[in-house]
Parts: sequence; C-alpha cells; structure tokens
Amino acid sequence: MHEATEDDSVIALPGLVILHLTDRCDNRCAFCMVSAATGRRRDLPLSRVREVVGAQNPGSRVDLFGGEPTLHPEFLEIVRTVAELGHTLSVASNAHTFARPGLAERLVETAGRGKVYVRTSLYGLDGAQHDAVTQHRGSFDRLMEGVRNLVAAGARTQINIVLTRMVIGHLDAMVDLVARLGVDRIKFGGLVDVDGCPEIEPTLHELRSALGPALARARSRGLTITLEKLPMCAAPSFLSSFSTERDVGAWPRTYADEAPCGGCLARRLCDGLDPGYAIRHGSGELCPLHRVRLSAVRALPSEPREVEELEFLKVHLFQVPDDWAQRPDLVDRCRRTVSVVQQRFGRVALVPMSLIEQQAQPPGGDT
Ligand SMILES: C[S@@+](CC[C@H](N)C(=O)[O-])C[C@H]1O[C@@H](n2cnc3c(N)ncnc32)[C@H](O)[C@@H]1O
Ligand code: SF4
Repeated sequence: MHEATEDDSVIALPGLVILHLTDRCDNRCAFCMVSAATGRRRDLPLSRVREVVGAQNPGSRVDLFGGEPTLHPEFLEIVRTVAELGHTLSVASNAHTFARPGLAERLVETAGRGKVYVRTSLYGLDGAQHDAVTQHRGSFDRLMEGVRNLVAAGARTQINIVLTRMVIGHLDAMVDLVARLGVDRIKFGGLVDVDGCPEIEPTLHELRSALGPALARARSRGLTITLEKLPMCAAPSFLSSFSTERDVGAWPRTYADEAPCGGCLARRLCDGLDPGYAIRHGSGELCPLHRVRLSAVRALPSEPREVEELEFLKVHLFQVPDDWAQRPDLVDRCRRTVSVVQQRFGRVALVPMSLIEQQAQPPGGDT
C-alpha cells in the first residue's frame, strides 16, 4: 500500500492550499475515504504550515482538512497564522469541537469575521441514524450543538449530506433540519471509493428520484446548494449548483465516452462516475445533456470582476450568442471571464443561445 508522507498532507496551488492537518479523528465513519490512512501520518507541524501558507499571495484560500483538523494540538495557532498572512480559511470538521462553549467564537475571532467557512457533515435525520454511521454515540448531538454555536458566532457554514442508501429516503426531512439550523449552504455529495461497503451505495436512478424533490425543497428554504462527486445528469436542472474537485482531488472518475458521455454538453465540466460504481452498475443510467435550462445560465458579464460567487471550484455557465466567435469584442470578454474564473479554480462553459432551453421554470425546477 502507498505509504502516506508529510508531502501527501499538502496540496499547494496558486491561490489555494489544502492542508491535511492530522489523521486524528473521534468518529469512525464506515465509508470514510481517508480512514485508510488514519493514524499513519504524523500531525503536520506548524513550521511546515507557516512555510507553505507563507509562500501564497495574501487573499488566498487555505483549507484545513483531515481526519478531524480541529484535533490538531495547534489548531488555533494554525488558524492565527493563516489569518495573520491575510488569507481566508475553510475548515472541514465534524463540528464536535465547536460544541464546547466559547470555541466557535474563538475560531471566528482568530480567523477574522467573514473570513472563515466551516463545512461539516450530517449522516442521518437523528442520533440513531447519524451515530450508527460515525460509530460514535452522541456525535449527532455534538454536531447539532457545534453547528448552532458556529452559526451564532458568525461563521459561514455548510452541511454536507453524503448520499448513502441510508439517507435517500429522508432527504426532505434532512433539508428541513439543515434549514432550521440556519446554515448558509447545503451540499449533496456522491460517494467515492466504497468498494469495501458497496451495499450503502444507491443507484443513480434511486438518487435522481430522491434528489430532485430535495433540491427543490432546499432552494425553497433559502439554502444555497452545492452538488459534488456526482455526474451532472444526476440533477440536470441544477447544473449551476455543481462544483468539482476533479482538478485537485485525489479520487479518480470515469465516463462512458463512446456513449452517452461522448455526446453530452456537460462532458468537459462533469465529474462523471466513481470507477467502482461503473464496474458494479455500468453506465446505462447516464443520460447525455443536449440542452441547458435558461435558469442555469447567466449572461456573460461585461466586466469579469462582476462574476459573483467565484467560490471554490464552482461550475459557471454563461450565455453567449451563437456567433460569439466571430465578434472580437465578445471573444475578448469571454477570454477574460474564463481566465478570472479559472484562476479561482472554477470551471466555465460558454453556452450558445441555440443550446438554451427557454421553457418556463417548473415548480421546484432550475436554480
Ligand atoms: C473526510 S471528512 C474530513 C473532515 C471532517 N472530519 C468531517 O467529518 O467533515 C470530509 C468530508 O468527506 C466526506 N466523505 C468521507 N468519506 C467519503 C466517501 N467515501 N465518499 C464521499 N464523501 C466522503 C465526509 O462525509 C465529509 O463531509
Ligand atoms: S452523460 Fe456523462 S458527461 Fe454527461 S452529465 Fe452524464 S456522466 Fe456527465
């Protein structure tokens, strides 16, 4: 097996650093994609964090990952270092640490108000379901308390719902729970690398029927939506909610390039299928996209700086006239927009008007 080293703990790109701070974790999620490495790496030393983060231009994004990064013995010192160097911070956490009084406030004070984003995960509707996945009794209650404290302290927050067979029958109620907590964003993430427990993996057909109503509900509750580690044809009405870590993530993806992916408009932007899923279920459930809903596309901005929400690895679809390539002014604008978005690791599609579906938005339809 590949031996994890300290260098495996750092992904550094211009404008983005991902730090695997520690293998420590107080949960034992059965499907955890990093648990194979748990306990094999030593904690990332603060000196190495300073070196890597210090090499970035101010205003970069630093993502603290793990294991459970808040269990690194110098977690707050690392947060302070990131803040002092003028970067923004995101933390992937099970939020247990923030259930302790005062810790969420300390995080926000140390990182700077408006500079910290915490993403955490919900594995079920209640303690029985969530704790069964984490194999940690009381983890649901601590997650709830941690998230409430983070929201109250002013951290921006996201809850990730990993789309297992255990949750797909409860997605609507989970959306309501997330909305009641007051978080900013809900993410629905596909499973990767579950060869050891394939029984928890829903089929794409099952996912599609559960996801559509849940996405509509999330939007009606005012939640911002992200979809990740899923083929875009799993939720074709929500194309502009897709995000991708394909360029920086370590997990492989696969496509059916003969058909249907070969003829699909989304092929260049799409995360495709988990290779294990493709082996177990084939690619017959994929469904190529030939048109893009108007509501998933925004007009090409006249000035690229106007592009909103240039967040982490977002997919952006911009409407252009069919003859855009013959119009030097538009070619120039397109080029600048693409370059601004790609510098921030987003993905861009320029969608000619003839490929845009002008139909009225169905109830609970497009983003
Ligand atoms: C690996 S955890 C590390 C951060 C932190 N300890 C936490 O619990 O959120 C980061 C995210 O990856 C998700 N995750 C773990 N294993 C996965 C898998 N096999 N497929 C998809 N997502 C997975 C988790 O649910 C969590 O949202
Ligand atoms: S058909 Fe293939 S490329 Fe198109 S959305 Fe589905 S998985 Fe992605």
